[in-house]
Amino acid sequence: MMRRRWVLAIGSILASAALAPALAFSAPEPPAKPAEGGDIVVPYEPTPDIVVQTMLRIANVGPADHVVDLGSGDGRIVITAVKDFGAQGLGVELDADLVKLSRANALAAGVADRAAFREEDIFKTDLSAATVVTMFLYRRINLQLRPSLLNLKPGTRIVSHFHDMGEWRPDKAELVKSSAHYGESWVRMWVVPAKADGAWLWREMRAGAMQQHRLVLGQDFQEIDGVLETESLRPIEIRDAKLSGAEIAFWLPIREGSHTVRWDYRGHVDGDRIVGQAESSDATGKRIVAWSATRQLR
Ligand SMILES: C[S@@+](CC[C@H](N)C(=O)[O-])C[C@H]1O[C@@H](n2cnc3c(N)ncnc32)[C@H](O)[C@@H]1O
Repeated sequence: MMRRRWVLAIGSILASAALAPALAFSAPEPPAKPAEGGDIVVPYEPTPDIVVQTMLRIANVGPADHVVDLGSGDGRIVITAVKDFGAQGLGVELDADLVKLSRANALAAGVADRAAFREEDIFKTDLSAATVVTMFLYRRINLQLRPSLLNLKPGTRIVSHFHDMGEWRPDKAELVKSSAHYGESWVRMWVVPAKADGAWLWREMRAGAMQQHRLVLGQDFQEIDGVLETESLRPIEIRDAKLSGAEIAFWLPIREGSHTVRWDYRGHVDGDRIVGQAESSDATGKRIVAWSATRQLR
């Protein structure tokens, strides 16, 4: 069952610790250290090239992207993102020798102008410019980073080699055969969801008149559901609700005379406002109405 965070009590709405790979990952995880101290919290182990390719492909990395690798090792993820996918990138690494090696590798690959490396603690890195964040860390480090990752711009993609994010389920996952990790590695990708939960004042023009309703949305990471409350009708549950980054979509069965008509809604969540369109097609043709919503309560 989805865990629900309801703002208003209205209506009835609403892995992998996997086998440890060889080398450093075969040892038990060291006890948690205070991350603020700038400690090496995960030992160095490179991601196999085939897995690097999968990580960047699964996130659909392209020239518009700014890829940040948290704990960048020898720089291979950032360098590949620049060289093979046309992105620009930043590697953040606490080990000074690995930072030096990464810069040399970037130079040798001819991408030093677009691949930067910084000696910095991953917990202190400003990720606000990132469109893609990559990681090959430990699960508990992923979980420590999770609150900050969830606060990044909606639509930012997070890709992890090997470890998951606890109950934040990935939007995509692939098992890759590789030379490391007993022959396989999980690659998982998450899209940072907009904060959509709360009570929204919904407006749409129908038959020349402005209609006002209330939409109450519940959210658990990228999973959402909700109820539309109107003055004249019983509350209607929204159907097949999806949230991908800032894009929300669902459909509603709306009574029109003696028929019930399916209306498909799409909208863009921008802070406390949603703006979108609803569409319906039947024998009489396609109809489109504009809708918007303003958050009243979270
Ligand atoms: C498992 S390696 C991954 C290297 C690279 N991302 C890859 O996939 O090939 C983890 C890296 O994180 C670095 N690291 C560990 N703790 C760190 C911290 N607090 N800040 C920055 N880098 C850190 C380690 O030095 C190591 O190079």
